[in-house]
Amino acid sequence: QQSPLILPSVLSCDFSDMRGEVERLEAAGVQALHLDVMDGNFVPNITYGMPIVAAFRKLTQLPLDVHLMIENPERYIRQFYEAGADIITVHEEATGIDTANVLQEIKDMGCGAGVTINPDIPVERVLPFVDTADLILIMSVNAGFGGQTFNPVALEKLEALRKVGPPELLLEVDGGVNLETVQACTEAGADLLVIGSAIFNQSDYGAAIDQLYRSAQV
Ligand code: DX5
Ligand code: ZN
Repeated sequence: QQSPLILPSVLSCDFSDMRGEVERLEAAGVQALHLDVMDGNFVPNITYGMPIVAAFRKLTQLPLDVHLMIENPERYIRQFYEAGADIITVHEEATGIDTANVLQEIKDMGCGAGVTINPDIPVERVLPFVDTADLILIMSVNAGFGGQTFNPVALEKLEALRKVGPPELLLEVDGGVNLETVQACTEAGADLLVIGSAIFNQSDYGAAIDQLYRSAQV
């Protein structure tokens, strides 16, 4: 796998043609998909749950990176794993979460375990998990909607984590990543770049992704 890796956020895809979208993304050389689950409580928006994750699982062998923007995530991790998630990421600031415990439960299922924080949460809140999480996701917009503007506070958090975390810790960034902001993300140490609108607003996903990779180079 190359680093950095671009993960399309399929929140912005055409859900009336999921099969076609997956085929186009695979043809564009995509190596993993990012799935955004929202519950209307942790964030003021609702997207989709286990059935759609399971549908993507049927349509592709690509790793599914599932971002849970939900309260009490530990109630649902097993169902998302059984639906086909390869990585499950939970918000450290979600209500009712025991983060250390839920990361361990995710790992015990044989799934990749990620933890994330919104832009207004200090990076100190995820520092305790640099040695136990497989992935730390730094949000560069407030979780809830695609198409928002990149918040550069994410860059200092990525740099801080790159310094203290072990080399195998995956650092991911999500929100407002586009041709203008992608290079700063890789410079700050991001391995995984979640990108929604900057891919799905383009008619040719392959060309959009190639251009993003070129801009991402440091
Ligand atoms: C925001 C989601 C993101 C979002 C990314 O809550 O977690 O994955 O869809 O979309 P863009 O790239 O449009 O900001
Ligand atoms: Zn996301």
